[in-house]
Amino acid sequence: MRIDIITGVPELLDSPVNHSIIKRARDKGLVEVHIHNLRDHSKDKHRKIDDYAFSGDAGMVLNIQPIDDAIDSLTRARKYQEIIYTTPDGAPFRQQTANQLSTCENLIFLCGHYKGIDQRIRDHLVTRELSIGDYVMTGGELAAAVMVDCIIRLIPGVLSDETSALTDSFQDGLLAPPVYTRPAEYKGWKVPEILMSGNAAEIEKWKFEQSLERTKKLRPDLLRDQR
Ligand code: ADE
Repeated sequence: MRIDIITGVPELLDSPVNHSIIKRARDKGLVEVHIHNLRDHSKDKHRKIDDYAFSGDAGMVLNIQPIDDAIDSLTRARKYQEIIYTTPDGAPFRQQTANQLSTCENLIFLCGHYKGIDQRIRDHLVTRELSIGDYVMTGGELAAAVMVDCIIRLIPGVLSDETSALTDSFQDGLLAPPVYTRPAEYKGWKVPEILMSGNAAEIEKWKFEQSLERTKKLRPDLLRDQR
């Protein structure tokens, strides 16, 4: 898989894509992540990439030309399944969205900044608009980092068996069950007896019940959504 991220603030993406599991996935050749600085596509002598809104509203808007050129240079080289714009007014990004996007070969993420991007980019070039939640950040970079992280960990070979994504919260519409490790008792706080029983079938049953109970208590909306 190849992911291209277009941004006016590439520094914000440095750390998330260059550490831990994503770095290992890149080193293993399972994913390529390319970060493109929008300013490299600016034709302005000061490398400006934004301007005042015609509406007179406060806040700067990212110009069309640098974004169009950045997208054009990528789409000329290969076919992309989606050109995703990260924006608070996009569709909610969910685990199912990550599952679906993890099967794509090439993806572009376009990060909004300041007041947003010229609407014509959204109308003519963007194929999908996604939000990570009902709150507004200063830019779409951290949202892109969240989405890219969720997608990359689903690519086969990225996670080891022990950390398999199949047992994640949300993967089956339920929150994950609680987990415990050694010691079996600490300050009198005990691990549930069943986990020490060695009875695999009973443990599976217990995990499912715990998942269901947790979901009912903490996120009843997830159970309603499934009906
Ligand atoms: N840009 C600013 N806020 C955002 C959000 N909640 N989701 C996606 N992109 C954003």
